[in-house]
Amino acid sequence: MIKKVLVIGAGTMGKGIAGFLASCDIQTFLLDQNVEITKLAIEQISQKIQKDVDAKVISEERKKEIMSKILPVPSLSQVGNVDIVIEAVVEDLEIKKNLFRDLDKIFPSNIILATNTSSLSISEIGRCLKNQERIIGIHFFNPVSKMKLVEIIPGEKTSNTTIERAKNFVEQIGKFPVISRDSPGFIVNRILIPMINEAIFALYEGVADKQSIDDAMKLGAAHPMGPLALADLIGLDVCLDIMKTLEKSFNDPKYRPCPLLYEMVKQNKLGRKTKEGFYLYK
Ligand code: NAI
Repeated sequence: MIKKVLVIGAGTMGKGIAGFLASCDIQTFLLDQNVEITKLAIEQISQKIQKDVDAKVISEERKKEIMSKILPVPSLSQVGNVDIVIEAVVEDLEIKKNLFRDLDKIFPSNIILATNTSSLSISEIGRCLKNQERIIGIHFFNPVSKMKLVEIIPGEKTSNTTIERAKNFVEQIGKFPVISRDSPGFIVNRILIPMINEAIFALYEGVADKQSIDDAMKLGAAHPMGPLALADLIGLDVCLDIMKTLEKSFNDPKYRPCPLLYEMVKQNKLGRKTKEGFYLYK
């Protein structure tokens, strides 16, 4: 049973994971390289929960209880005992490796070190550890509170005990674990992002307009959301990065990012986060 977790990185995913774990009554420490970002993240988690209070989904008391489970920490040395560390810092191999080197020194070798990376190799990150048996990918989806799936990705030296403990943890928090080999894009992004890229090609080549492409996939393939609207939600820069990773790793032209995707990212039309992507947002 996992009781205490350290989440590193208080950006989109870090705050999502921290807020969700606290709502599962797990003591959660949140740490970012920038203390102001951690403070802001906690404020945003509180605002999000307040919406549930206002909608009478939970009580003011329950909100207090959840918020009391999240503690900001300014540095690794001030964390103390935890059962698992979940890293959710920027998607940069060198930054992650440097961080994992520090984690390896600070946390006893029985503590699981997990990464939320969406495209980097777990084995590659793990090579900087003395005990590579304890590294594992625990890949949450955005928004964390809503998405049921968590991909579990063992690295080449990850022990069966670590895999089993990670799986139990994911089940403990009410999510559905699937195990994936440490292969680019794992399962979901390997399938989803090329589909989105293909939808962008369909638009680019004038097969149909954007609304028709989204309606077609909603009504003809029973997708809850059209691929272009989904691209706006994920972020067009994120979609492009993942396509580039797939193209490079597999060295296969079938993963060529659509020129329209390149163009939109160049114009900073990144989707919801910049208020404009395939659609406009207020
Ligand atoms: P983000 O850019 O929103 O947040 C990253 C945070 O990490 C920033 O607040 C930054 O200050 C902090 N940071 C950077 N270096 C640090 C260090 N050495 N120590 C402590 N904090 C540090 O990034 P986001 O989107 O939350 O992504 C985080 C990870 O989650 C990435 O590996 C990404 O691939 C993965 N991911 C992202 C998803 C998404 O939809 N955004 C979905 C699933 C996984």
